[in-house]
Amino acid sequence: MIYVKAVQAVLPQSAPASQSEIAVTPNSISSITHFAAQGEERGPENGPVSTATMERVLQEKIRLCDILEEIADSLPENIDRARCLQIASVLVPLVRSTHLYEEQVIFPAYESVLAEGAEPSVLTRLRAEHFEDECYADELTEALLAAARGGEVKNAEAFGYMLRAFFESVRRHVAFEREHVLPAIRAAYR
Ligand SMILES: [Fe+2]
Repeated sequence: MIYVKAVQAVLPQSAPASQSEIAVTPNSISSITHFAAQGEERGPENGPVSTATMERVLQEKIRLCDILEEIADSLPENIDRARCLQIASVLVPLVRSTHLYEEQVIFPAYESVLAEGAEPSVLTRLRAEHFEDECYADELTEALLAAARGGEVKNAEAFGYMLRAFFESVRRHVAFEREHVLPAIRAAYR
């Protein structure tokens, strides 16, 4: 549960996105990374995976998407520069740590419950989407920082397109994991 607590520290659920404070520290990020790297969550070799933990992780990713959508909707006149700076500081580490968790804990469990000889292309695609989203998160961080530092937002249309492309991609990815990956794991360990 260390992972979930760390993510909640980044994106608290206790208040609406527009009111919440995003408090990220180097320690919280390192906790996420350390947890994922150590594979603290149970895996196929250690017993059933806690899909509830994964669902909480996915909820936080959706919450991140909701905040990015708020920023996109606020362009160009009503942009909250402080919010842009906050999200820029957590976007890449949050995305990378959640991907690390999924790839080290959830994907091996999913692979173990796929029918023997099944085409592993689904996992190949999901990993490729992780890589693409991480690259995009790097670019989006630069754009968020520019918006946070700048005066008038230059080319708000392009910035809005970047935001929407990212959160729509992440939402599609999360929807697939909710609809296919988690149910398969739950059914196997029921
Ligand atoms: Fe994923």
